[in-house]
Amino acid sequence: MKNIIIFGAPGSGKGTYSDMIVEKFGMGHISTGDVLRAEIKNGTELGKIAKGYIDEGQLIPDSLMVDILASTYDRQPKGCGVIFDGFPRTIAQAEALKTMLAERGDDMGLMIELVVEEDVLMARLLNRAIEQGRADDNKETIQKRFDVYRTQTAPLSEWFAKEGIRHTFAWSELKTKEGMIEAIFQTVEQANK
Ligand code: AP5
Ligand code: MG
Repeated sequence: MKNIIIFGAPGSGKGTYSDMIVEKFGMGHISTGDVLRAEIKNGTELGKIAKGYIDEGQLIPDSLMVDILASTYDRQPKGCGVIFDGFPRTIAQAEALKTMLAERGDDMGLMIELVVEEDVLMARLLNRAIEQGRADDNKETIQKRFDVYRTQTAPLSEWFAKEGIRHTFAWSELKTKEGMIEAIFQTVEQANK
């Protein structure tokens, strides 16, 4: 399987659709948010650094993230493809990912972009706050995460378009979770033919 980069704003469904892709195609899955939350839970040095940024809705510095990503990638099973969920989030991270994969004889495969309106995202995340109690799922921090996404991460979409690997899925067109995942599965299958 080709690697997949799943890209979108907070609450757009990166984790949800990654789980569904993993179940269907048996790929590896790296969620940098989950990696960082595990470090926080385990009280590691990295966790202590990451907590300050996550609680403020800010990005962890690129240099730190790139190292974490490379070491996590090297621990993934080989040959079945990996989904990158929440990475890259800046142009610098994207360039570093491309280089890191090329050094290993791999490539980025395809990029799946999830486009969802902010009012829908806010409602989803406030609902998740009740169900899961994630520390950064409160209105003020969610708003900061949206701002960071708009200014630092969304511009990357064009970078992927120039790489010729961007596939965009819009909630306003596909309208249901089933509609979204069906379209995503078709694209993944097509890319692996
Ligand atoms: P991260 O954990 O990646 O958070 P995020 O980008 O804010 O995204 P979420 O995990 O909140 O949303 P999601 O897109 O996965 O949506 P989900 O499937 O859960 O990052 C957290 C923090 O870590 C960052 O702010 C930053 O500080 C740091 N960080 C991480 N990576 C970094 C990096 N590369 N560089 C620097 N810093 C980094 O869905 C949301 C909810 O909606 C769920 O409850 C789901 O069930 C529900 N839902 C309802 N309807 C639907 C539907 N139709 N489709 C999908 N989900 C739905
Ligand atoms: Mg997630």
